[in-house]
Formats: sequence, C-alpha cells, structure tokens
Amino acid sequence: MQQPWKITRRLLVASMLLSSLIGCGGDDNDPAPLTAGAVSSPDRFGAETAQQILQSGGNAVDAGVAVGFALAVTLPAAGNIGGGGFMTIYMDGKPYFVDYREKAPGAATPTMYLDASGNVIPRLSLDGSLAAGVPGTVAGLHAAHQRFGRLSWRQVLAPAISYARNGFVAYSTATPTSASSRANFNNYFGGKMVSGQLFKQPELADTLQRISDTGPDDFYKGQTADLLVAQMARTNGLISKADLANYQAVWREPVSIDWNGYMVYTAPPPSSGGFGIGQLLKMKRFLAPQFAAAPLNSAQYLHLTAEMEKRLFADRAQYLGDADFYQVPMDQLLSDDYLQRRAAEVSLSAPTPLANVRPGLGTDLPVPATADEKPQTTHFSIVDRWGNAVSNTYTLNGGYGSGIVVEGAGFLLNNEMDDFAAKPGVPNQFGVVGADANSIQPNKRPLSSMSPTIATKEGKVALVLGTPGGSRIFTSVYQVLVNTLDYNLPIAQAQALPRFHHQLLPDNVIEYEASKFPAAVAADLTLRGWIMRDGVNGGLNIEAVQVVGDTPVPVTDPRSPNGVALVVPPIP
Ligand code: GLY
Repeated sequence: MQQPWKITRRLLVASMLLSSLIGCGGDDNDPAPLTAGAVSSPDRFGAETAQQILQSGGNAVDAGVAVGFALAVTLPAAGNIGGGGFMTIYMDGKPYFVDYREKAPGAATPTMYLDASGNVIPRLSLDGSLAAGVPGTVAGLHAAHQRFGRLSWRQVLAPAISYARNGFVAYSTATPTSASSRANFNNYFGGKMVSGQLFKQPELADTLQRISDTGPDDFYKGQTADLLVAQMARTNGLISKADLANYQAVWREPVSIDWNGYMVYTAPPPSSGGFGIGQLLKMKRFLAPQFAAAPLNSAQYLHLTAEMEKRLFADRAQYLGDADFYQVPMDQLLSDDYLQRRAAEVSLSAPTPLANVRPGLGTDLPVPATADEKPQTTHFSIVDRWGNAVSNTYTLNGGYGSGIVVEGAGFLLNNEMDDFAAKPGVPNQFGVVGADANSIQPNKRPLSSMSPTIATKEGKVALVLGTPGGSRIFTSVYQVLVNTLDYNLPIAQAQALPRFHHQLLPDNVIEYEASKFPAAVAADLTLRGWIMRDGVNGGLNIEAVQVVGDTPVPVTDPRSPNGVALVVPPIP
C-alpha cells in the first residue's frame, strides 16, 4: 500500500468513516495523511466537491465521479451527462482507462451529413439533434465507481444534486447557440444562467436524483431514456431506446510510454491522444542531439516540434479511428523502428512541403481545406491521500454541444458526431481531417484528441494532467509533460510557458501565443517559411497535479479563468 503523504499521528476519526468505506484504494489503518489529496478543477464547485468527497474518506475515483457529475451542473458548456469522455486512473499502483466516448446511433450512415451532390452540409454535424452521439458519461462514471469507489453511489451524486436543486452562483452566462437549437436552448438557459446570479436546475436535479436512485438504468433504460428519445422524435434526431440500452463504457489498456525514468499512461483509441503524445515523445528521443542544440521554446525548438507534428497529423488522418471498427496499427505507429525513420524525415531548417509529408505506413491522404476551431471540453485532475490518481477529460464537443436540451430532463446533448470524418479530406470544426478509419458507422465511436494523462516514477504518481482544446489537446499535454519531465521545471512554470501548435493543415501554419514569445522567434520562423498565427485557440486550460516527494502540488492554468487548485486538508 502506498502511503505517500503520511505523518506519524493517527487520525482516529477514520472510525467514523468505516461504515461508508466499501471499496478499494486505501487502508484506513494507514497512518494519517498530511493531506486528504489535491485537485485541479475548471471551477470552484468541482474543487469543493472533490474536497468534500476526499474529506469524507473517498478516494480519487469517488472524487472524480462526484466532480464529473458536479461539473455537469455548474459548467454546462462542457461538463455533462449528455456527452462522453475518458478517465485515466492510477489505483493501488496500476493504471486503468475507462472509455465512455459517445457512439454513433444505430441509424447513422456514412453519408448522413452530405447533400445529394456528395458535399458536406454546413453545420449539420454540429447543430441540433442529428449532431448528437449516444451519451456515455453516466455509464463511464458508474463503471469507474463500481470498480474502485469506496463511498456509496448516492454519496458521490449528492453534491451535484445539491448544486442543481439549490442552485449555484453562476460565473458565466449561457449564450445562445446556433439558430437551429436556439429556442430549445433559451427555454432552459436563456436569461436564467447569468453570471453572478443563483441558477437552479430543477429538471436536472430530478434527473440526477433518478440516476442516484437507480444507477445508470434510469438514464439508459428508464424515464430519462424515454425523455431523450422523445426529444429525438421532436427534433429529428436518431438516438433510439435500443441505442441507449446497448451503450456500454469500455475498460481499455492505456497507452504506456516509458519516458526518461517515468511511465506515461494516456489515452488509447478511440482517442488519438496517446498515439500523438507517444509519437512526439519518441521522435523527440530520436532527435535528441538536435533538441539539445535547440533551447526550449527557441525558434529551432518550435521548428523541430512542428516538423514532428506534421508527420503525426498525417498519420492521425489516415490511421486513427475507433479500434473496435478499424484495425488501428498502434504497435507499428508507436514502434521505435518506425519513429526513428519518421524522425529522420524531419527537416532541420525549413518546413517540409505538404506534398512530401505522407502518412508513414505507405498510404495517401486527401488534401483538405481549412476550418476554424471552437474548443470546449473540460478536464480535472485529482490525487488522493493513498497516492491514487484520476485524470478525467470529458466533453459535449462544442460549447453547449448540439445546443439541444432534453426537455423534462434538463441536460444538454453533445455534438460529438462532428468528430467523425463526415467526408474524407473535409475538415471538422478543429480543422482536422480523416479517412475511412474515422468514417461514420452505426455504433462506432468518433475519433477524439482527449488525453487524460498520468505519469508515474518508480510506481508512484508524479504528474496528473489534461486539457480541453480539440486537436490542440495532445500537443499541449505533450509540451507540459516535456517541460516538467525533461526540463525539470516545477509544474506551475511548466504550465505557464507559452504554447504553440501545428497540425499539418493549414499548411505551414504554427499557432502560437504571440504575446508570450519573443518577437525574434516568430521572425526567425517566418523567414524559414512558417506562417505564424497568433492563437492556440485551445489547449488553454491544463489542470494538473504534480507530486513532489510526498507533497501534492495542484495547479490550475493561468489561462483558465475559473480554475481552482486545492490541496485538501486532512479529514477534520
Ligand atoms: N471533441 C473533442 C475531442 O474529443 O477531441
């Protein structure tokens, strides 16, 4: 049993908790901890929820499940029960991964977003009920709790129900989404969720209460399922009772990368996150002499990284998708032989022309146009007093998802169908393209970039992190990982450093935080042929916990307007 934050005194109030401690994750005879854990959350309600659960004897999974439900109430732009996500868990010295990504409805077809001429109908995969995949969040949080929870299901639902029933002081104002869903959206949120004012959600409180009473059955087979299907019927959506009844969260092997004395555990397909982080770390290893000569965040450093990103995004477009439907060659794509070859393709001075950057396993990819990105999604990181950790990223995809609220149930539906490749080579809202690997098929999960990540050293949690940001997610996680694990920067500094992103398309464009980089860096890269664009529209809110020795150091991103990092005091 790990006892990372123990002190010598025994905390006998633990006996008060014994009746509710039913699962795994710790021994109550352990010496009392210095802290009950730590959390980095996108809002204070998530942080307070984690604190309450950790101080009640819950472990990181109890806290993660409770925060997942709480943010569905207090952060409705991204927190959800109508969407999906991924949870990476480190429990009793072992890594786990729960995939609760949304699935395409059974009636979905590969051409459902195309017109008669085969062109993509703008925004059909983003706005309204047709954009919604079958939600996975309730099943995923339940699966994690069933396997690892110590507190009761009711206890972990209680904070969310309270925020919904009694209200919380909103810190942002819900803005109307697209025209197709505005009336429905406004009916629920319009003028009601206003920054600085108490916002109550009685319908959502009732839904959460039913979930608390029946587990996921209500959501997938009961009254909530009926309300969701009725909403589909009113607004031309596809999700059926059978789709809901058949939805299952899946335990998968996380991607594991052995990195300079650390083990990095992160997201496997249907996320491209672990693939992306793994490719970048390993190519960087094969370019060690070149990186040694390129100071962190110098022009040459950005150049080398963007060159690696060109290759990985070419591979992502061609080979990544739901591995239950498409044989994703992960072993090959992450093999040392392959990445040594890919690293050797990296140009050391000027950007490689697009025509010369192909997917590395010998196939071709279509040449797409460009698109804007509108990142949403949210992430939280938690460690508990036993040294377990949860790294959770979940999403409705765009802000407020499809904009469709399930009437009578009070929650928003995702627009995750946009993460499929609606047509090979046509970019989605994040500007990324795909091919057959990520084509729409009934019951398939769309490709994601979400990358909830945990790094361990000698079997103990060293760093827990993740972020929103669409296709910017794993390039951002990679940068903070490298800043921390390679350059030994304290997490707060590693996280605050300026970030940048390249994704093959638009051609030669590097997004970067212009105000934070010296002007000479952009000038140098421009001379080489890169197009420097102020931005990194996503990847902004890394919520992380580093563990230094036995001390958890939670940090919220300075770019995160409402983030809260909290070391949780011991059980009072
Ligand atoms: N919807 C964003 C992602 O899954 O990466």
